Amino acid sequence: MGRIDTLLAAMTVEEKIGQLNMVAASRVVTGPGELRDLHEEIRAGRIGSLLNLWGADETRAVQRLAVEDSRLGVPLLLGLDVIHGHHTIFPVPLAEACLFDPDLWEKTARIAAEEAAEDGVALTFAPMLDVARDPRWGRIVESPGEDTWVACRMAEAKTRGFQGRDLAARDSLAATAKHLAAYGAVTGGREYASVDVSERSLHEIYLPPFVAAAASGVAAIMPVFTDIAGVAMTANAKLLQGWLRGAAGFDGVLISDYNAVAELIAHGVAADLVGAAALALNAGVDIDMTSGAYLQGLPEALKRGLVTMGAIDASVRRVLKLKERLGLFDDPYRRGSSAPEAGRTEGRRELAREAARRAIVLLTNGGILPLAPDVRRIALIGPLAEATGEMLGSWASDGRAQDAVSILEGLKAALPHCRIDHAAGVGIEGERTDGIGAAVELCSGADAVVLCLGEAAAMSGEAASRTDLGLPGRQRVLAEAILDLGKPVVATLSSGRPLTLPWLFERADAVLATWFLGHEAGNAVADVLTAKFNPAGRLPVTWPRDVGQVPIFYNERPSGRPYAPGVHYSSTWLDQPPTPQFAFGHGLSYSRFALSDLRCEPARVKAEDTIEASLAIRNESETDGEATLFLFVRDSVASVARPLLELKGVRKVQLAAGERKTVAWRLPVGDLAFIGQGLDRVLEPGRFEIHVGMSANPQGLLSCAIELVE
Ligand code: NOJ
Repeated sequence: MGRIDTLLAAMTVEEKIGQLNMVAASRVVTGPGELRDLHEEIRAGRIGSLLNLWGADETRAVQRLAVEDSRLGVPLLLGLDVIHGHHTIFPVPLAEACLFDPDLWEKTARIAAEEAAEDGVALTFAPMLDVARDPRWGRIVESPGEDTWVACRMAEAKTRGFQGRDLAARDSLAATAKHLAAYGAVTGGREYASVDVSERSLHEIYLPPFVAAAASGVAAIMPVFTDIAGVAMTANAKLLQGWLRGAAGFDGVLISDYNAVAELIAHGVAADLVGAAALALNAGVDIDMTSGAYLQGLPEALKRGLVTMGAIDASVRRVLKLKERLGLFDDPYRRGSSAPEAGRTEGRRELAREAARRAIVLLTNGGILPLAPDVRRIALIGPLAEATGEMLGSWASDGRAQDAVSILEGLKAALPHCRIDHAAGVGIEGERTDGIGAAVELCSGADAVVLCLGEAAAMSGEAASRTDLGLPGRQRVLAEAILDLGKPVVATLSSGRPLTLPWLFERADAVLATWFLGHEAGNAVADVLTAKFNPAGRLPVTWPRDVGQVPIFYNERPSGRPYAPGVHYSSTWLDQPPTPQFAFGHGLSYSRFALSDLRCEPARVKAEDTIEASLAIRNESETDGEATLFLFVRDSVASVARPLLELKGVRKVQLAAGERKTVAWRLPVGDLAFIGQGLDRVLEPGRFEIHVGMSANPQGLLSCAIELVE
């Protein structure tokens, strides 16, 4: 018998259920409920995994209780939300998505895994793969943005990064793809609200990133705590057991979200913990995160015949298998047991700076940026100018605020010969305006003003949805007082979501989306303002003008009455056009690029062929720079209305001043398949348009077409 069979044969029912029980420790609190003393329960074999504990000594101490003091010595699985770094904090996921760079996405996850593993962690609850099209929803900050193709690439890169080449390696973490599925579609963007999306949307938009994660070997998947059309995902046997473990081929562990099993009672689909535990286990959920429903409910459910011993064994087997794959049986202390290897920490901050400056999106620029070398005096105004902790964003793991570089510090370091005066003016939130006068005064002698505006880190993330996408507190009053001075003004927006600020985009000389960039935030902002780095970030979400436009996203279906300016009976609002403030993919550069000569070949293709698309790009400016090109397709006539644009590829190109390059894509014709009327994948003959541009703005796209023949 193998190790797992031997263990299973030796286990009591209580010990088996213990393996399915994950309990919260208290180094950080990420959900509701009471924290208990866990030592006795670990010794008794009633706990199989823990979350929210890290540190070499702390993790070793609890692991010892399980390995040395419990009857069968099964090691614990220690999990933590390592989302965008552990000690070294990288940009929040939405900001990192602006890079459109899977290699860098993988590298930052690798470092996060190394650091967390050094701290005894073996499992992370990342990557978050929820396609998000509603910026009211606070968790858009944790998402890869609005596009499914991008989310798939993020799934692959992050899984590779966290898990490394060998899950058993002492610096590998098991990754958890979350939250399956459609969490981003909560009603009205309101946190934890019900979701009601079509089967087509599920399979076309929300599920593919999980297929990509499963295909990349992701160790775990977390079902979302919400319901979809009345079926709570924690109890959705059809999707979890049927589709995920069946068609999608996932053979890893399913971990419930925090307290989600017991919350089946609040959903109104279980009467008590016994019913809740039975529903979740039968749906294929292996680990009950923190609700205690398995521990308390499964013995009775077993007695009543609501669950079988076979189902419990299958879940225990999957959990033990993961522990085995992580190498925990061979050496339960391998993570957290070594001092960081010499030389390993070098380069982490540099990578954090590189990721951070690449995440900055230059939204508007009337020519004030980069700052001219003769700028001698800058007034740095606003509540985010001196902030350090806020720069980390939500889910900052073990990242310390004191290690973060503020925008003030970054600019001072970059411009030692420049005088930089600083005043906050107002708080991020709150009604006080008595600091505005002094801030305005400070600007009087300045050559340029840098206005650092935005949200607090805690205003996005879990349980942080907003109905208003404007600036919180009295920041607008401050900004308008400064803008009224007529000085050159650059605004930076620190936020976890797009903010609807049409007045600012109109009046400021330049605006940058600086999100929450992590520890190197200030240096990254300074690199861009001073042209040490030519901005390269592109929006992974459509940026609305008004909260009334959301959900807003580029890959809409055409409608029978498409928007036509000035046409009354066309798809629009009376008070706003449906066009966004900034399109998906938007982002300016200090260089100027021109596209030409798009070609798609061959003109007629068959299902097994590959389309070759190519175009020329020229850097028409005197500044070296990086362009990002997006390739979209459109199925002109199909049995189901297809989106106007669907992303199928992204290329990043470095171009020296004046340089011209040819950029090429190879697109398998099979990628043109879609979910047909019967919800199966179909490839229909006919005409397909191919569009390439620097964003999803239809005005900037070059187009060609091919014909798919039978
Ligand atoms: C609840 C969140 O939804 C989930 O993303 C997270 O991993 C768990 N809490 C654990 O902190």
